[in-house]
Amino acid sequence: MSLSPVEQLKRHAAERAAALVRSGMKLGLGTGSTAAHFVDCIGEKVRDGLDVICVPTSERTRAQAEGLNIKLSTLDETPELDLTVDGADEFDPKLRLIKGGGGALLREKIVAAASKRMVVITDASKEVATLGKFKLPVEADLFGLTATARQIEKAATANGCQGAVSLRKNSGALFVTDGGNAIFDCDFGVIPDADGLASALNAIPGVVEHGLFIGLATAIIIADPAGIRVLGDLSA
Ligand code: A5P
Repeated sequence: MSLSPVEQLKRHAAERAAALVRSGMKLGLGTGSTAAHFVDCIGEKVRDGLDVICVPTSERTRAQAEGLNIKLSTLDETPELDLTVDGADEFDPKLRLIKGGGGALLREKIVAAASKRMVVITDASKEVATLGKFKLPVEADLFGLTATARQIEKAATANGCQGAVSLRKNSGALFVTDGGNAIFDCDFGVIPDADGLASALNAIPGVVEHGLFIGLATAIIIADPAGIRVLGDLSA
């Protein structure tokens, strides 16, 4: 199958991450088109005898991994993972991420937090100096969505952000996550204080989780036409 140039870059990043995997490892499998390449790589290695156990971050990834005969587990059976490999919607030089474009941010964050290492795989288009160009996904309980939206707006203003906070829709209907929640997409443009905004969002009762991943990624593998670049430490 021939891949488009951008899919080839994603595949290169995924292959580099797959080279970190050894038999006996417990892995977290991310969600999205880039993470799907990593799952394919693991499927090929499993076919060739690799013995790993994996926790998927979404029902989509679970279905893909099952189709590739990858051994799956849950965080209840396997609460500590060696390595999670996932994509991102945006990353900055401090290895801070925006995730959740695919709607899987809650499970992605739970799985990443249960992992000793989180390696992000991406093409160079996701790199920014300051997070916020990608609309920040915020997952919220279905109860009291309008009140929660107001609280998100207040938290944003207090942290120097401005922009529309809109409920994600899917063909006109409310988008509902694997966990049964809604997602607000927050069009801030620039997030001058990501750490401050993350803390403020964490304090809102209706917010289940937000797409700012801070202090979770240990390395980022960036594929661009010139080759592979790594931010952070792949062995950490
Ligand atoms: C899924 O909820 C997201 O966090 C994805 O990891 C992110 O959207 C990246 O997806 P792509 O690899 O498809 O760009």
